Order: sequence, then C-alpha cells, then structure tokens
Amino acid sequence: MLDNLGNLQRTHSCGALRKEDVGKNVTLMGWVARRRDFGELTFVDLRDRDGVTQVVFNAENFPEAHTKAKDVRGQYVIAVVGEVVLRDESAHNPKLATGEVEVQTRELYIFNDARTLPFQLDASPDALASEDLRLKYRYLDLRRPQLQSNLKLRHRVVVEIRRYMDEQGFLEIETPNLIKSTPEGARDYIVPARIQPGKFFALPQSPQLFKQICMIAGLDKYFQIARCFRDEDLRADRQPEFSQLDVELSFATSEQVYALIEGLFVRVFRLIGGDLPVPFPRLSYAEVMLRYGSDKPDLRIQGMELRDLSPALEGTTFAPYASALATGGQVKGIVIGGGAGLSRKTLDELQEFVKRYGASALSSIRLGDEVSSSLLKALGAEAVSTMAQTAGAEKGDAVLIVAGKPKTVTASLGALRNEVARRLKRIPDGVFAPLWVTEFPMFEYHEDDGRYYAMHHPFTSPVDEDVLLFERAVNSGESDLLGRIRAKAYDAVINGVEVAGGSIRIHRRDVQDIVFKALGMSKETARERFGFFLEALSYGTPPHGGIASGIERLMMVLVPTDNIRDVMAFPKTASAADLMIDAPGEVDPKQLEELHLRVVKDE
Ligand code: AMO
Repeated sequence: MLDNLGNLQRTHSCGALRKEDVGKNVTLMGWVARRRDFGELTFVDLRDRDGVTQVVFNAENFPEAHTKAKDVRGQYVIAVVGEVVLRDESAHNPKLATGEVEVQTRELYIFNDARTLPFQLDASPDALASEDLRLKYRYLDLRRPQLQSNLKLRHRVVVEIRRYMDEQGFLEIETPNLIKSTPEGARDYIVPARIQPGKFFALPQSPQLFKQICMIAGLDKYFQIARCFRDEDLRADRQPEFSQLDVELSFATSEQVYALIEGLFVRVFRLIGGDLPVPFPRLSYAEVMLRYGSDKPDLRIQGMELRDLSPALEGTTFAPYASALATGGQVKGIVIGGGAGLSRKTLDELQEFVKRYGASALSSIRLGDEVSSSLLKALGAEAVSTMAQTAGAEKGDAVLIVAGKPKTVTASLGALRNEVARRLKRIPDGVFAPLWVTEFPMFEYHEDDGRYYAMHHPFTSPVDEDVLLFERAVNSGESDLLGRIRAKAYDAVINGVEVAGGSIRIHRRDVQDIVFKALGMSKETARERFGFFLEALSYGTPPHGGIASGIERLMMVLVPTDNIRDVMAFPKTASAADLMIDAPGEVDPKQLEELHLRVVKDE
C-alpha cells in the first residue's frame, strides 16, 4: 500500500542537515539511493537534488517504521520523519556534506515504488552504461549527481548572465522561432505552414537578422538567451538545437564588444572560483593559423607551435616533400619537448590520427642518444639534422612532420598539437587560457563547388582598409582577391573551445548589396531572400555589432567536459535523434494531408 503525501511537508532538503541541527525534528523526502540491512538496524541513503542524508530505522525504538523499511528498494520515493542525531565519530562520512549526522526515523511514508533500473546510477565514470541507453532513460541518468550539478551550474551561469547584461543596460528581447532562413552556414530545419500550402517556415540558425533589426528599431542594446537550430554534421561539441547568449549593440566598436564579453566571462568564471586573465590576448586569424594550425588554439599548451621546414629542404629529391613544395604545398613540423622517448606504437597511432585530417603520412625525428627517424634513409643524416635544427628541436626532443597542401598540413598539425598534449598530460587542470581571434577572412573558398562563402555570415563588415580592395574584387570580377579581404569578425576562445563569435555588421545598404554579389547571389535572389532586411537597412541604420556565446560551449569549459551532452538536460545523439521520446518520428497520414505534403521514399 502506498502512502499519500497528504499534508506532509519537507522541513529540509537531503543536503541541508549539519551538526547544528542535532535534536531537531525533521521531515525529509527523496529517492532511496541505497539500503543496507543489518537486522535490528536498517540504513537508507536518501537522495534529492541537494544531496544525501543517511536515515536510520531502529527496530528497538520504532519497530513499525523498521518493519516497513524492509519493503523499501532502490529509487523508491519516500518521506521520513524523525530526529537528527550525531553519528559516532567513527561513522562520520567526510564525503557527504551531511556526513556528521543521521536521522533516527520515527515514521516512514512510501509514496511510490520503482522498477529495477535498466542501468546502475552510481557506477564509476568508466563503468557507466552505454550513452545510448542512458539517453533513452534520460530522466534516470539525470538523477546522477554529476549531471544535476552541471545543470545547477548552468542555471547559475544563466542567472549571472542576465544580471550582468541588465546591469550593462541591455534589454532582453524575444525574437520568433518561426521565421525565414537566416544563413549561418548550416542547413535549416523547416516547418510546413498549414494554412499556406506549399510554404514553409525555417527555424532560426540564430536570431541574427532580428537582432540587427532591433538596432534599426532603435532598441540600442539587445540580448537574448536564444535557442538556435542547425541541421549540420554533428561533433562532440555541436548539437542541432542549442542556446546562445545573443548580443547586439548600436554604435559599437569591436573594442566595446571585447570589453563587454571579457567583463561577463570574468563574472561567470568567478562562479566556479576561476580567475580569467583580462584583457584577453588578441591574435589575428593569420597568426593563429600559422603558429597553432587552428582558429581555436588551446593556449594552455606550451610551445608545440608549427615550424616551416621548407628552408631545410631546398633542392630535396625526396619525392613526397619535393612534390609538395613544387605544387604550392608545405612541409611543417611541431617539436615535442622531451619527446625522444615516444614509442614506435605511439608514433603509429599518431600517424593514424593525422590521416583523419587528410595527411598522407606522419614522419618523425627522435633526438635520443642516437637520432632515429623514418626519414634517415631517404634524406640522409645531415638533412635530417638540419630539419631538426630548423624546427628548433634539441637533444631529447622529437619532431613530428607532415607534408602536403597548406590546408591539410595546418589542420593535421593543429589537431596533432592537441592530441599529443592530451596524451602526454601536458594540459594543466584548473587553468583558463582565453584569447580573441581577430581579423578573420571575410570569405572562404570551398573547393568542392569552386566558390566563396562568407566565413562568419554575410552581414559581417569588411575591415575599413580592405573595403576598396573588396569593391575592386567584386566589380572587376577578380574573385581570387576575395580570399584576401579581412572581416571585422572575432571569436572568443577559451582552452581551445570557441565560446563566442561575432562581428561588426554592415550597416550600409550599398555594402550589403556588394557582399551578396560577391557571394554569387543575383539581385533577384537577394531581394527574394533578404528583401525585408535590405529595405530595413535603408531607413536609417546605425553602425552596430554584436556577438553570440554558446551557453553549452561555455559550460563545457566550466565543468569541464568534452561531451556537450553532459551540460544539457535533453540532448540529441550524433545522428540528431532524441532517444527518449523517439524523435524524429513519422506523422499521421492525415496530418501530412493537412499540410499538403507527401513523403517520397527512396527506392
Ligand atoms: P556562430 O555561428 O559563430 O555565430 O555561433 C556563435 C556561438 O554559438 C556556439 N555554437 C554552437 N554550440 C553548440 N552547438 C552548435 N551546433 C553550435 N554552433 C555554434 C559557439 C559559437 O561561437 N549570429 C552569429 C553571432 C553574431 O555574429 O553575433 C552566430 O550565430 O559557441
């Protein structure tokens, strides 16, 4: 027989009781995390969101409650009424905030039972059930203290963000989710419009155009914790649906945006006792790509910067290097301090690792007592030693080398830098290394379809010095110049995670027209897709700019975790599915009919 809640009320949470509460009569409610039966005595660890309290059932003092406790199993929902007593010193549990006390239970109420769980909640991190199973039963997985603590921190972060933005004079303004496509480089999720057959809404990839329109409307300083939807290839740090702190301000320079966000991040990191050094260092995109091979370098990692080894390879006849250098490619390496001892096996694994980034091979030079290198046979001892010197390596170090197209060399060595630092445990804990990456290129060339795309988004302003070059590139059709135009775009990166990105916007209609033209968009297409916005630009648009910070990304750095799903309540899998509610799913044929849609199955 289950008990009713009736008028019973909690006096404390399961994490609240301390030594000072001894002697109080309390009522606790929660889930049974563990039950241990010692005949006359039964112990239950009672858990709720706040913590765990040990409650005791004593056959001698309160036989009725003790007998009833025999029915209790894991994850039953119960209430206990009793007195707080001090535990014997030998029974103190320093791992629990409540570990000096326990509750001697007089009355036990069982509100609900629970089936045996499909997986164990208190398994060690290595022994956790598969993530898919845990996602299916997300409500159970969310009972784990680690996930609860992440969500509590997320709440505090969002509260702090709202408080800070309010102090800075920003208005929180909601923008719609049923809109037209806003390009951020991903595909749109689309929603059929029932009352206008054949027409569709798109869910926002970001509120970009609405926040710019807020500036045109004279709202001056806008922010929103906005849900964004992007149908793109998922990675460990991406979700199809995620939240951004989205910000826009009028008459803003990049400097103002940097100061605003640095001030915010300092406050947010203080929540976990973290100290962010301000101002953040600033490095241009060109510089980070050259030095770290990444536009989100992890500056906690010392050294291991990319070195150009081509000066040591002049006139080389070694085919892979000679052909790379003759066709505009590169030969670059990174120096692993003290890496001479890297094993053959590790080097083989690292070679497989760089192959994922398109590299055809990874060569190495290990400067131990003897020089050991896969290149000795092909290049000779002298050339190998010159390469090691050019890289700046010393005795005891290793040089890891990749040759090929510049993009491949940069991407594979950039990723290798992180991978080696991770394997060799050279990433210090509890350290925060932020930076601004500035002066991103305006456009990025995509080889697959032979055209330029906006690297940030098409509403980003070119830097003032490059506007003339830009106009020339577009008007004369010298499209290869487009790759040289720099944008007033910036990213904030902390510990190798892109936590925010933004730009100063185009506020002039004529410049916006040229950007659309540069992107190969005809006047008609531009009008059809963005006519409302182009028109709005022509009614007195103030200079403006802004930024958006991924709440989940920020949380990943704060927790810290590599898995974005650890910092959201109801995440999706890598194939964009929700395993708990089994979505996406099929819809009723009647619903399809109403929407004037027909599903065409692949043959
Ligand atoms: P951007 O596309 O750079 O810019 O996004 C801003 C920030 O949002 C986070 N983010 C994501 N987080 C989780 N999953 C994803 N799929 C995902 N995609 C992006 C990152 C990123 O830095 N409208 C512009 C902002 C602006 O110009 O003001 C925009 O959305 O932390």
